[in-house]
Amino acid sequence: MSWTKKILLVLLVLLVAIQFVPVDRSNPTEVGELWAPGEVESFLRQACYNCHSHETQWPWYSRVAPVSWLISHHVNHGREYLNLSTWNTLEPDQQRQLAQEMVEEMERGAMPPALYRLAHSGSRPTDEDIAQVEQWAAGFQK
Ligand code: HEC
Repeated sequence: MSWTKKILLVLLVLLVAIQFVPVDRSNPTEVGELWAPGEVESFLRQACYNCHSHETQWPWYSRVAPVSWLISHHVNHGREYLNLSTWNTLEPDQQRQLAQEMVEEMERGAMPPALYRLAHSGSRPTDEDIAQVEQWAAGFQK
């Protein structure tokens, strides 16, 4: 067998082997889900819920390593920062601050992340989306 074939064979075996590494794709129960006006909620559901809630819709490629590792990391990391499924367990002060951060992240084009926007057409926030989230966020002002 030639070297190239050997290397390809090893890669293939590795690719099969890594499929057996456990990946956390759990959707825990919701406690204190966010309430927001209809259009704000439906926008957040479409653009943010996959990583910032317990209602993640795991796509088929989230079952294929090594992509699954990246997605699982994004979701579990994203939930640590902002979890819309536990929003109402936060203090009003925390809600106000996080809502403000949500607007800022969207305004500077950082959220949803670029890779996510590539994979999910239509998830790039429009100016109107941002304005509506901003208005909702302003409701938390002291
Ligand atoms: C593909 C997964 C994904 C999506 C979709 C996503 N986020 Fe995030 N978000 C993350 C991750 C991962 C972090 C953790 C820190 C980082 O990478 O900046 C994060 C962090 C944040 C933070 C905290 C920022 C900080 O550094 O403190 C805010 C606020 C936020 N996201 C808002 C949003 C909003 C609003 C949306 C929808 C418009 C959204 N995100 C969509 C993955 C995502």
